Amino acid sequence: MLGPDYKKKWWLAALICLICSALMITLYYNVRSPVSPWAPTPTPTPTPTPTPTPTPTPTKPIVLLWFWPNGVKFDLKGCLTHFNIDSCVLTDDRSLYSKAKGVIFFHRDMSHGLQNMPKGPRPTFQKWIWFHVESPTNTAKLPGLDNLFNLTLSYRRDADITVRNELTIRKTEMTEDFVLPKKDKLVCWIVSNTDHGTGTAVRDKYYHELSKHVEIHVFGAAFGGKRLSYEDYYSTIASCKFYLSFENSVHRDYITEKLNGALVAGAVPVVLGPPRENYEQFLPSGAFIHINDFPDAKSLAQFLLGMKDEAYMRYFEWRKFFMATPHLLSLYNEFLQPICLACDHMSRERNFRVVHDLYKWYFT
Ligand SMILES: *[C@@H]1O[C@H](CO)[C@@H](O)[C@H](O)[C@H]1NC(C)=O
Repeated sequence: MLGPDYKKKWWLAALICLICSALMITLYYNVRSPVSPWAPTPTPTPTPTPTPTPTPTPTKPIVLLWFWPNGVKFDLKGCLTHFNIDSCVLTDDRSLYSKAKGVIFFHRDMSHGLQNMPKGPRPTFQKWIWFHVESPTNTAKLPGLDNLFNLTLSYRRDADITVRNELTIRKTEMTEDFVLPKKDKLVCWIVSNTDHGTGTAVRDKYYHELSKHVEIHVFGAAFGGKRLSYEDYYSTIASCKFYLSFENSVHRDYITEKLNGALVAGAVPVVLGPPRENYEQFLPSGAFIHINDFPDAKSLAQFLLGMKDEAYMRYFEWRKFFMATPHLLSLYNEFLQPICLACDHMSRERNFRVVHDLYKWYFT
């Protein structure tokens, strides 16, 4: 049996243990949290109404247009109004050069010795964009362009930034029938450039041959055609059953607004350009007539003259599934779309890249 003395000692030990653990817990919490659970709750001091910290907006990259294409200025705000692109700060202010993430250089405006290009150090994050929308036939080979650019901006499908008037796929099939615009002409052509130096000899020859067998209504500055205002462009094409979408020179992917104009207006394009297979990469095979579908201009003329309404309407079947978007017409707007696409690209692009052999890529 244990004596009373022993009981007293036991109580003392227990008491000391209790105090010890209480102390340790207090210490523990003091270290863990600044406010000890046993500390008196601090009287709340009146906090000043918090000034709202501005949510950090991701800064838009600066994209600098080094030259106005062909020296023609236009409103860069058009990217938002026409293409709903607002993801970069587009500017022509060269003093922003060192901050610009992208710099666009229009090929035709570069001087032969590249003296009118930026001088001085090139920021490591900066990308130079080669901007060119002419075909190889109409491209001056300036020396010194290899290993200079980081991105290409061109109509080519294999460019880094491709600029084209492409058909867009409808979200839902169009159910209402296409209403054909009123036609009072069979074949039309809007043409202004007959400078054979630009490669137009091929199409001029074909036109002359074709015109021997079918009447061609010519508009524009060439061949004594009636000059058209921009307002009359689409309506004039619409009034013709067939429209000659003849490119000035024949190159892969070089299929321009000359095709788009007919598709938008509701005329059947008769194309002269790269092979049919190349066209079919961009639009349905039944949406156009290719001059190479016929052995010569005479048989093409006979085909156009003899076409029945039913066969003609089949050329518009694509409209059930695709839409053509009108391209901007004025000289000022011609270069807007490529620049807007470059802006959009720069807001996403992060990769490191160098265009090594520019001409090897472009000319082959
Ligand atoms: C761009 O190209 C230049 C020259 O070819 C190269 O020195 C530079 O590092 C490249 N920059 C980027 C961001 O890709």
